[in-house]
Order: sequence, then structure tokens, then C-alpha cells
Amino acid sequence: MSTVVLTGIGLLATQTLECGDLTDAAVIVEGSRIAWIGPAATAPDADEKVDLEGRCVIPGFVDSHAHLVFAGDRSAEFAARMSGVPYSAGGIQTTVSATRAAADEVLAARVTALTAEMQASGITTYEIKSGYGLTVRDELRSLQIAAQFTTETTFLGAHVVAPEFEADPAAYVDLVCGDMLTTCAPYARWIDVFCEQGAFDVDAARAILLAGTRAGLGARVHANQLRPGPGVQLACEIGAASADHCTHVSPADVDALAASDTVATLLPGAEFSTRADYPDARQLLDAGVTVALATDCNPGSSYTTSMPFCITLAVREMGMTPAEALTAATLGGATALQRKDIGCIAVGMRADLAVLDAPSPVHLAYRPGVGLISAVWKDGQRVR
Ligand code: NIG
Ligand code: FE
Repeated sequence: MSTVVLTGIGLLATQTLECGDLTDAAVIVEGSRIAWIGPAATAPDADEKVDLEGRCVIPGFVDSHAHLVFAGDRSAEFAARMSGVPYSAGGIQTTVSATRAAADEVLAARVTALTAEMQASGITTYEIKSGYGLTVRDELRSLQIAAQFTTETTFLGAHVVAPEFEADPAAYVDLVCGDMLTTCAPYARWIDVFCEQGAFDVDAARAILLAGTRAGLGARVHANQLRPGPGVQLACEIGAASADHCTHVSPADVDALAASDTVATLLPGAEFSTRADYPDARQLLDAGVTVALATDCNPGSSYTTSMPFCITLAVREMGMTPAEALTAATLGGATALQRKDIGCIAVGMRADLAVLDAPSPVHLAYRPGVGLISAVWKDGQRVR
């Protein structure tokens, strides 16, 4: 197996307690994995050498929440919101119509473009949800397309009730728990439900998530996004990997998260784009909750592929320190996806690395909107 030494690393943000940040460091990559880390001066020889000239290296970002399989454009909805029109779950139907009408190639081309943007922003692992098909056929093809790009695929047939079932939402829940789940499960690792007024109530959400876990999928929940509600408690009750959004949480919700293994995944791009109040990351962190940051990339509530943008918002608006935000965007995302092979820089981990054109990761928030990602390695291969 060939080896590469990345040397001249001004600061290596390992995101592990054992090593912490190393200065004047080197990393040796062997095949797809990290084989050695330590002081540059003592680095063993390797087949190839890359001098990073004092730049900072961080783990590739792990984006644990994204909706990339869709067609159409909702910029007019965004513009209207910026003039005061509130966001509602109902806008999802606009994207459902466009997605159903699009050819597979068109949907896949959009995913290609968005994942290229993600890589350019330093993201090396991303989750992709279905949820803009809402028929057995369209959810299936959404997941088949998603599976061409990532192993972290999520069945979100329960995004909203399909328009055909408006008069009989219970029949749609039966479809999601029945034929749709059976057809989609082979292409999904996870199941997700939008537990919210205008989408699915707690009983429907519980039934769908439990049907999914019986089919072998892990659970995740869109919880407490638009108002307080039972989503976070449900996520903790069923042992979901993550409760996502957590924008409106009560003290009891915070306690439930702190007492569980459920990660609170915060999605500040959604609050930004819907002009909503941001979640209070500080209270979650102070209570001992594991926090992840993700883009929520989707055409309605958060059309960004930039993790640095999310970090900027988390630091400026949500009470996170730059170090906490970096951890949430790397190790936090890995924890939300229950992955032990990504999210930090240590021997044996996947060599998923982002190089910053900056002396420290603080610059991700300190220099908002500036493209600082100068190189990216994914599975030991330089991809940017
Ligand atoms: O995570 N909240 C539900 N789903 C998406 C928004 C979907 C849309 O508006 O198209 C979200 O914000
Ligand atoms: Fe979402």
C-alpha cells in the first residue's frame, strides 16, 4: 500500500482527547487510513511528501443531515420570507411536484453538483434523505440515487403527507409503514420522520419510526423545529441516533437529551433562511448533550452546502465557541451517524482531512464567508 506524508502542518486539530491540537505536525496516510501522526521532525519516510507550509488540518466535516434529491427552485419562497411571509411545512409540496416530474438523470445531476459543493466546503461524509417523492416509486428512486453517492441514506417517506392522501392521512401512514418501507428499506440505513404540526403527530411518528427499526433501520427525527412539541422526547424514548433541529426545546427536553445517547443535531442554516430564532446550543452543551452541526441542505428551509457557514452561525448566534463548533461539525456529525471511523484524526481512522488556508480553525468563524478550504483528502485520496 502506498504512503503519503502530509508535513508542514502548522496546527493539526485532531478532535481527540488523547492528542488535542498538535503544532508543527505531520500525518502519514497509508491507503485509505491514517497510519501515523506526530511531530513533523520525527515523521517516518513515505512514498510521497506533501508540504502544507504551515496550514491547519482538521478532520473532514461530517454532514449528518441533508436533503439532496430534489428538483425545482424555491427562491421566490425565500424572497417572500425575507419580506415577512412565514415558513411552513406546506412548501415541501412544491418540491414534491417538481421532483416527481424530473427524470432520474436530472435528479442525479443535481446531487452531483451539490455534493461537489459540499466537498469544496470541506465535507467528506454526507447523509442524504429521500422525502420529496412521497410515492413508493419516487421514494424508491430517490433512495437509489442517494445510494450512488453515500452509504448514509435515509428514508423520509414521512416528510409530509402525500397530497393524494390529504383526506386520509392515516392511510398514508399505513403506506409508509407498509409497502413504501418494504420497498425502500434495502436502499436505506436510516428512517426519519418530520414530527411537527402540518406533518406527522407523535403517534404517527412513533409508529413509522418503530416500523423502520423493525425493518432494520436506525431512527432519526426532525424534532421541535417550528414550535415546541413532542419530537425530542420521542427521539429519546425510542433511542434515535439523533433529534434534528431542536430549535424549541424545554428544560425537560434538554434533560431527556442529556440522559440519552441521542445527539442534538443543530441546523442553523434553517433558522437563517427562515428568519427564525436560533437554537440555544449553549444550554445543550452545558447540560452535557452531544451536539452535531449539519447543513440541512434542501431547497426550502436551508439551501446551503457550506459547513463553514453553519459554523459561523453557531459561533456568532448560538453560543458555541469556535472549538465546540468544529467538534460538532466533525465528531458530533460522526456520532449522529453512529460512525466510529470518521470525525477525528487518529491512527486507524479514515484519512478524511480538510486543509485550511489559515493558521487555526478559529478562522472558520473569524473569517465568515471566505473560502478557506485549500485541499481535501477523502479515504486517503486527494479530491481537491
Ligand atoms: O429539515 N423540516 C422539514 N424538512 C426540511 C425542509 C423541507 C422543505 O422546506 O422543503 C428541513 O428543514
Ligand atoms: Fe431536514
